[in-house]
Amino acid sequence: MNIVMIGSGNVATVLGRKFTAAGHKIVQVISRNASAATELAYEWDTESSNYFSVINKNADVYIVAVSDNALQELVHDLKLPGKIVAHTAGSVPKEILKNVTGHYGVFYPLQSIRKDITRLPDIPIFFEGSDDRTSITLKKLAQSISFKQPVFASSEDRMKLHVAAVIVSNFTNHLYALAEQYCKKEGIDFHQLLPLIEETVQRLKTDSPAGTLTGPAIRDDQPTIQKHLELLKDYPHLQKVYQLLTESILQTK
Ligand SMILES: NC(=O)c1ccc[n+]([C@@H]2O[C@H](COP(=O)([O-])OP(=O)(O)OC[C@H]3O[C@@H](n4cnc5c(N)ncnc54)[C@H](OP(=O)(O)O)[C@@H]3O)[C@@H](O)[C@H]2O)c1
Repeated sequence: MNIVMIGSGNVATVLGRKFTAAGHKIVQVISRNASAATELAYEWDTESSNYFSVINKNADVYIVAVSDNALQELVHDLKLPGKIVAHTAGSVPKEILKNVTGHYGVFYPLQSIRKDITRLPDIPIFFEGSDDRTSITLKKLAQSISFKQPVFASSEDRMKLHVAAVIVSNFTNHLYALAEQYCKKEGIDFHQLLPLIEETVQRLKTDSPAGTLTGPAIRDDQPTIQKHLELLKDYPHLQKVYQLLTESILQTK
């Protein structure tokens, strides 16, 4: 397919790389960030611009991969009648694009995507279209870049998935970051925890997380919990997080 990529951040870069690797042609990169757009255009041997007025009108699909809060403003003057246009946001309804074209949709990559990671992760796509032509095209595009079958998700379901994604990915990553800071200050090697992290993730493939929980909170081991809170007395923020999660585990026991 011939694709116009709108945006030049993490998602635009990584999806663009996936599209080109799958044999699609990025015919243009449009972004307010002229230098990032030029770099991507060089990588994909295509053209770029930071002016929406010169958008290529001959592509099959337009992927709008810009920040959620920029979408409304950006699509205000964008008119691509008859074209298939999809955004990539988890928590924005597809209807935000309804004045751009009659064929609008969503191409939501359920993955943590960063352009500075050279390894391209598999990216499951949750898609939605305003009509059959849009849905079928977005599904085909998704099938071409992912080992996982694309999944149809309504805007409501996609937003719920996004909430769950934030909890399992962003929040756990933040906990790793807090633990890493603590380890550094206490002279412990954070990497010694990697086998534990890997085993915890491995178990999720076969068991429910609630059923595999171990540790002082699920055992309601108050003496150990109190010792840990005492050890964290110089880390009031981490102490609060420890306490909050311990209470959450105790409540769901
Ligand atoms: N990254 C992920 O893990 C991930 C996963 C799934 C879905 N998404 C969704 O994908 C979309 C893009 O995310 P991202 O991670 O690629 O974000 P990003 O790396 O921050 O890139 C955002 C892009 O939007 C542009 N932009 C920001 N404000 C703008 C404005 N007012 N007008 C025009 N362009 C503007 C930025 O241009 P500048 O460079 O000039 O700022 C940049 O090209 C978001 O809707 C996000 O929710 C992200």
